[in-house]
Amino acid sequence: MLEKFPRYPLTFDGPTPIEKLGRLSAYLGGKVDIYAKRDDCNSGLALGGNKLRKLEYIVPDILASGADTLVSIGGVQSNHTRMVAATAAKLGLKCRLVQESWVPHEDAVYDRVGNILLTRLMGADSRIVEDGFDIGIRRSWEEAMQSVRDEGGIPYGIPAGASVHKLGGLGYVGFAEEVRAQEVALGLHFDHIIVCVVTGSTQAGMVVGFKADGRAHRVIGIDGSGTPEQLRSQVTQIARNTAALIGLGQEIAESDIVINPDYAYPAYGIPSRETSEAMRITARTEAMITDPVYEGKSMQGMIDLIRKDFFPAGSKLLYAHLGGAPALNGYAYTYRNG
Ligand SMILES: Cc1ncc(COP(=O)(O)O)c(C=O)c1O
Repeated sequence: MLEKFPRYPLTFDGPTPIEKLGRLSAYLGGKVDIYAKRDDCNSGLALGGNKLRKLEYIVPDILASGADTLVSIGGVQSNHTRMVAATAAKLGLKCRLVQESWVPHEDAVYDRVGNILLTRLMGADSRIVEDGFDIGIRRSWEEAMQSVRDEGGIPYGIPAGASVHKLGGLGYVGFAEEVRAQEVALGLHFDHIIVCVVTGSTQAGMVVGFKADGRAHRVIGIDGSGTPEQLRSQVTQIARNTAALIGLGQEIAESDIVINPDYAYPAYGIPSRETSEAMRITARTEAMITDPVYEGKSMQGMIDLIRKDFFPAGSKLLYAHLGGAPALNGYAYTYRNG
């Protein structure tokens, strides 16, 4: 479905591994089989993660634009801005980042470790501002682009999460194609795909990719944003635009977009007791590390849905691990005792 789109490789060659989580499945009663697709291990660039799949389809447009500076936006502990900084370093471009105060979390080292530390190490010009959480297009991002122009540079803007970008949904269409090929090789078929959703293009791309084999509604988005209505409309929009762009030939219906809003509490970036419990269970059964902002919440959602028998016995679940572990360093005090 993606042949006509140029792709600039930022990830390792070949599919990301699919790993059976046997001890986690057994811990949860053995009624379902859990597998993880390890997009957290997808690249040698600055610890990798889901944004690189999206950026691979955006880089050709960046190079064609003649820009000399990538401009993007996220929270202080944004994985996305880390990945944009990595992409800029790899391409030999400058990088200006607006890091908004999305998370009401206080830890003495929050703005010095993890993602923002790596971002600074890669030479990005990272500017912390006071604005709160919002997944939409932001004034501060537009101002950052203007500031590059004022200095004589040529900016290329990448919105939060690379989501509201015309090419932002393509990477995860590719994820679905990759899973289909791996299913053939492994001789199995996944009944549900569980994914954390915040800015939307990861799930939107998957929805389009899995629509092709009738599984769009089997992609269960676990909201980490705490703004599910805005998120739902953003995912729907991105999925429809992406479907039109690739010429899918099918309409994306409302029922194709499944987002569970139940696990985002108490707020974006703040783990609940249950989020932390899910992170500990996963670390202690599988040594699979999840973070309190994204994957901890999707793991919490998957575990809770399994416990509530949401998935029929015998189901095969594919948990999409999208990365994010560097942010854990910003929660050093919260997890000081494990
Ligand atoms: C580790 C991680 N998981 C999940 C997500 C959610 O992906 P998306 O923003 O495409 O909805 C993000 C980014 O926001 C992320 O960094």
